[in-house]
This record gives sequence, C-alpha cells and structure tokens, in this order.
Amino acid sequence: MSDLLSLIDKLERTHSLTLAEYEALLTQRGEGPASALRERAVRVRKAVYGSTVFTRGLIEISSWCKNDCLYCGIRHSNQKAQRYRLSPSDILACCREGWELGFRTFVLQGGEDPWFTDEVLCPLLEQIKAEFPHCAVTLSLGERSRESYQRLFDAGADRYLLRHETADKAHYEQLHPAGMSWDHRMECLRTLKEIGYQVGCGFMVGSPGQTEKELAKDLKFVETFRPAMCGIGPFIPHKDTPFGSQPGGSVELSCYLLSILRLIQPNLLLPATTALGTLDPLGREKGIQAGANVVMPNLSPVSVRKKYMLYDNKICTGEESAQCRGCLAARMSSIGYELVSDRGDPREIEN
Ligand code: 5AD
Ligand code: FES
Repeated sequence: MSDLLSLIDKLERTHSLTLAEYEALLTQRGEGPASALRERAVRVRKAVYGSTVFTRGLIEISSWCKNDCLYCGIRHSNQKAQRYRLSPSDILACCREGWELGFRTFVLQGGEDPWFTDEVLCPLLEQIKAEFPHCAVTLSLGERSRESYQRLFDAGADRYLLRHETADKAHYEQLHPAGMSWDHRMECLRTLKEIGYQVGCGFMVGSPGQTEKELAKDLKFVETFRPAMCGIGPFIPHKDTPFGSQPGGSVELSCYLLSILRLIQPNLLLPATTALGTLDPLGREKGIQAGANVVMPNLSPVSVRKKYMLYDNKICTGEESAQCRGCLAARMSSIGYELVSDRGDPREIEN
C-alpha cells in the first residue's frame, strides 16, 4: 500500500508512470489505493472544472455496420440485430429538440454505415452549424479516409470520437476479425489530430483477453497521445455475439481507471458512460465521483433506441430525451454536481 501511495504521488506530480508502474498500480489495487486515487482525482477535477458536469446529446444515427467486431451487438454478422438509419431531417429534428433542452454539443454516432457518405454528411453538418451557430458537433462514425475526415472537418465537425479499443495489437486482433487493422485504427487517430479535430480515444474495461498488461498500455497510450477526451466503460456481453457468454467488466475497475486517467491528464474530458450506468444503477454517479466530468444523455428518437443495442440490457432506451436529461441532472445534483449547458470544450491548463 505505501509503495502504491508513492506511485500515486508520482503520478499526480509528473502525470506519468512507466508501463511497469501502471501495471503495479492495477494489479495491486484495493479499496485503500482506490480511495486515495479517487480523492486526488476529484481534487484535480475540481481545480480544473469545479463541480460542473458537461453534457453532450447523443444521437445514434445508424445501427447498420459493415464491421464485425466480436464484442458488438450491431456487428455485421448479427442477423438478429434490428437495423435502422435516421435521415438527415430526422437528425436535424433531434438536434432541435436537444437545443431546446439546453444541449450545445451533439454527438452523431453510428456503425460504419456506407450510406453515410461525405455527400450526405457534409450538407447535414453545414445545416446543423447554420441553425445552431455556437454548438459543437462531434462525429463518432468509425474509420474513414483522411480525405473524408478532412471534408467533414471543413464542413463543420469539431470533434471525433474513435475509441482505440486496446493499445495492444495482439489483443486488438483477439477482439476483431482478420480484416480489421490496429495499425489503421491508430493511424486514423493520428490523422484526426493532425487535421485539427478535438479527438477522443478510449477502451473497454474487462474485454475478453484483457489483463493489467494491456490496460497499462492503454494508460501509456493516453499519456503520450494526449486526446481531448477518453471514453471508457465496462465490457458488457451481448448474447448474439461470439463473446455472449464471456464475463463482463467491472464498475470498480472502470472507476479506478477513471481516477488514474484524471491524474494523467487533469483537463481530460472523461465521460461517465452509459455502460457504467447499465452495470450498476449508480454507475454514472460513481464515475463522476471517481473523477469523470461528462455525461451523454440519449437524444435518439425513442422509436429506434432499442435497435442500437451494442450490449445487453442497455439503459435509457425507453425514455424521451427530456426525461434522459432530467434524470441525469437530478442524478448529478444528488451528488453535489451541476449539469451545465455549454459546448464543454477542454479547459486549457499548464500541465
Ligand atoms: N460492451 C461495452 N462496450 C461496447 N462497445 C461496443 N460493444 C460493447 C460491449 N459489448 C463500445 C466500443 C465502441 C463503442 C461505440 O461502444 O468501445 O467503440
Ligand atoms: Fe464494430 Fe459495432 S461492429 S463498433
């Protein structure tokens, strides 16, 4: 424990540990180190962001996906998955509703659906930007070409979320079919950053084959890549995937990692994810109390929500957008935090 406390001290002071040190911090974890990390992470997040929680309106634009990630419920070969695609006018209607509810950031997320070409997305981005001039638009649409990323950026996209899923190439290959490449995914992340997007990476916690060694690499990757945002949440099996009978990840380890990530990069945007809330009714509150500072209520039309089933028992699939936002506002205020209605850009700080 005292060894771990000195590692935690070093992490807070220097924002960096060696791979072996990250691994030790993970393998020797327990309630003692967890509460030490939590306490420091909350102190650091309060110094940077106070008690505010940023909010992003999540619009799940398509459940079609050409990929076949082994963990994902909307993978191409899941013939039981229900497929839908929102039209640009459906998406604009979600943004309008979101704007009225106070959202100033919209996240357009979907599977890798070839229907959403640049020709479809660019005019849509321009319309969103014209109608809601000071909002931020985040895309989360998987791997595309540099040219496409550039065109979408030029059309007004501000941010891009592309979880790296795992920073270990061999582990990536355990989670994905042969056609998918870890090198290409990492290259996409670098390209997005070069173009000027605020980039979000991220990984699942407790995915099949993951040990503390892989997680240590994920932490090192975040430390060196310096994303604007990092989305993490527990792996949750989906019954109609090859990993359907694998054990899921834990809320406890996810929160432990959130605290470490906060100390690695004090201004990092860290969402308390829906997956956390799915595994534990108080999961998102626990995420915030471990150092997270973002929540992403669902703005998708209720009629499609049950069709965007990345994993079993996903929450927020029956509620209207206003209910989702109200629910999260109440949850945040119950633990002494306040949902704010702005773009929620990362704060510039000296590290
Ligand atoms: N459990 C938890 N998270 C998942 N994702 C996909 N499938 C699952 C699952 N079964 C995550 C991936 C992806 C993001 C959109 O959702 O990390 O990048
Ligand atoms: Fe890859 Fe859905 S099949 S994220």
